[in-house]
Amino acid sequence: MSLVQCDAVLIERVLANLLENAGKYTPAQSPVEILVRAVDDELRCSVRDHGPGVAKGLEEVIFEKFTRGHAESATPGVGLGLAICRAIVEAHRGRIWIEPTHPQGATFTFSLPLGTPPAMDMAEEVPGIPSPPKS
Ligand SMILES: Nc1ncnc2c1ncn2[C@@H]1O[C@H](COP(=O)(O)OP(=O)(O)OP(=O)(O)O)[C@@H](O)[C@H]1O
Ligand SMILES: [Mg+2]
Repeated sequence: MSLVQCDAVLIERVLANLLENAGKYTPAQSPVEILVRAVDDELRCSVRDHGPGVAKGLEEVIFEKFTRGHAESATPGVGLGLAICRAIVEAHRGRIWIEPTHPQGATFTFSLPLGTPPAMDMAEEVPGIPSPPKS
């Protein structure tokens, strides 16, 4: 079982910002996928699109405040969405980055450290539930 400790409202904001970008910067009807998997000691969540992608060399600056791509002047936005994502993810001791989608598009991934699931003591008495017979 994969458990993370996070502020659900803030992580929802991260996902919403990434999905909003995928909707804004890719053609209508172009699919967007959300992938979640556990890798080593972290949970990774990706938003993968098949739009124009982000130009080489801009992969880091787009996470800075008020930084937008060159072709975006016609699309509303102030360039804060990804900076907010990075601040929230880093406050959770996670990371966020972009990779190209093959053959075309952008994949944004953020990670959150995996928590340790609470230990369950099967012998513990739970009010209202009979204990298993002692052997
Ligand atoms: N899925 C994407 N595909 C292509 N380019 C993207 C994608 N997501 C972000 N970008 C590029 O990164 C830039 C920064 O994105 P960010 O979300 O920080 O700001 P914004 O979308 O321009 O404005 P805001 O989110 O504040 O409304 C965008 O202007 C765009 O150039
Ligand atoms: Mg945005």
